[in-house]
Amino acid sequence: MDAQLLQWLSVNLRWFHLVTGAAWIGASFYFNWLNNNIRPAAGDDPDPAVKGEVFAIHGGAFYRVSKYEGAPARLPAILHWFKWEAYFTWITGFLLLGTTYWYDASAMMIDSAVYALSPGAAVGIGAASLVGGWVVYDGLCRSPIGQRPRVLTGVGSALLVAGTWGIFQLLAPRAAAMHLGAMLGTIMAANVLFVIIPGQRAMVEAMVGGRAPPQAAGAAGALRSLHNNYLTLPVLLVMVSNHYPAAWSGTWGWAIVTALCVCGVLVRHGFNLRGQGRPRPFVVSWVGAAGLLVVAIATLRPGPSASASGVPSVSTTQVQAIIATRCMPCHATEPTLPGFVAPPKGLALEDRATILANHEKIASQVEARVMPLGNLTAMTDEERAVIVAWARGF
Ligand code: HEC
Repeated sequence: MDAQLLQWLSVNLRWFHLVTGAAWIGASFYFNWLNNNIRPAAGDDPDPAVKGEVFAIHGGAFYRVSKYEGAPARLPAILHWFKWEAYFTWITGFLLLGTTYWYDASAMMIDSAVYALSPGAAVGIGAASLVGGWVVYDGLCRSPIGQRPRVLTGVGSALLVAGTWGIFQLLAPRAAAMHLGAMLGTIMAANVLFVIIPGQRAMVEAMVGGRAPPQAAGAAGALRSLHNNYLTLPVLLVMVSNHYPAAWSGTWGWAIVTALCVCGVLVRHGFNLRGQGRPRPFVVSWVGAAGLLVVAIATLRPGPSASASGVPSVSTTQVQAIIATRCMPCHATEPTLPGFVAPPKGLALEDRATILANHEKIASQVEARVMPLGNLTAMTDEERAVIVAWARGF
C-alpha cells in the first residue's frame, strides 16, 4: 500500500480508537463513581424499588440518577446498554495493530537478535497472543479457581507475567509490548461481549418472563467488570509507552512492562479504595506512582560523564558515514528504500547539523535496537556501539 495512504489510514484509526476508548473508559469510570456515590433514596420516589440515588450538577443542569435493587417492576421503552464503546475500541485497536505491525511484520515485529522469525510466524504469534490470552483467562474464570477471586488474581497474574516474558523472547520488544497491551484490551472487550452483556441480557429476559434474575450471571458479570476496572490504567500505560524505548527495550524489557502494569493497578486500587470510603486511600496510589519513579531510575542508562572516560573518541564524520548507509535509505528527503516516500517523522539525517542536533534521539533509538526499523539496512553491533559511544562523548 502507498506509504502516504497508510499514514492517513493510521492517523484516522488512531483518532477513532482514542475517541471510542475515551468513551468506553469514561462510561466505566462514571458508573464506578455512581456506584460509590449512591446514597439511600429520600423516600419520595414513586417507585418503591428504588434503593439509592445521586444528585449531580453538570453543564448547567441538575441530574437525579436512581439505582434499583434488582430489576425495576417495568422495563422502560428505551434501555441503554453501553457496549458499542467497547466493541469499537477493540475493532479500531485491532485494525491499528494489523496495519502498523502485522502488515509490515518484517520491519515492525521481527528483531533477529531476539528471534529469527518469518513474517508469517511473527503474525501467527501475535494473533495467538490475543486469542490465547482470552482463552486462558476465560477458562480460569470458569474453572473452580474462578470461585476464589484472590487465588484467581494470583494465578492469573503469574500466567500473565509468564506470557509477557514469553512474547518478549519471540517478538521485537516494541511489538511484544504492544501485543501485551492488545491482549489485555482483548480480554476487556471480550469480557463485555461474552460475559457482561449476555449476563445483562439474561437478566432482562428473566424480568420480561416474570422470573427471578439469574444470580450466577450477575456474579460473573460483576467479577469481569472488576477485572476490567483494574486493567484500564495498565493498558493505557502500556499503549502510550510505544514511542518510548525506555519503557520496553533491553534485556529486562518484559520486566519493565510488567512493573508498569503493577504500578497502574496500584494507582487504580487507590481510587477504588477511595470510592469505598476507606481511610487514606491514595497511599496505595502514591506507592504506585513511586513505583514508576523507581522503575524509571532503575532503567536509566549511564549518562555521558559516567562513561566518557575510557570510551574511544568517535568523530561525527565516522558516524555520518554509518548513518548514510544504515539510516538514509529511509531518513532522507528522497528516501531510496521502496515504500518510503518521505523521511519518517520528517527526520532527514542528511546533514551534519541535523545529526548533531539529534544525537540523543539517534543514540537512544539505535541502542534500543528500534532503529534501523526491522534492521532492514543490516546495521552491525559494532556500528551501534560506535554511535552510542559518539553520543556519550557530548
Ligand atoms: C526502513 C526504514 C528506516 C530506517 C533504515 C531507519 N529508520 Fe528511523 N524511522 C523509521 C520510521 C518508519 C520511523 C517512525 C516510527 C514511528 O512512527 O514510530 C522512524 C523514526 C525514527 C526516529 C524518531 C523516533 C521518534 O519516535 O521520535 C529516529 C530518531 C530515527 N528513526 C532514527 C533512525 C536512525 C538513527 C537510523 C539509522 C541507524 C534509522 N532511524 C533508520 C524508518 C527507518
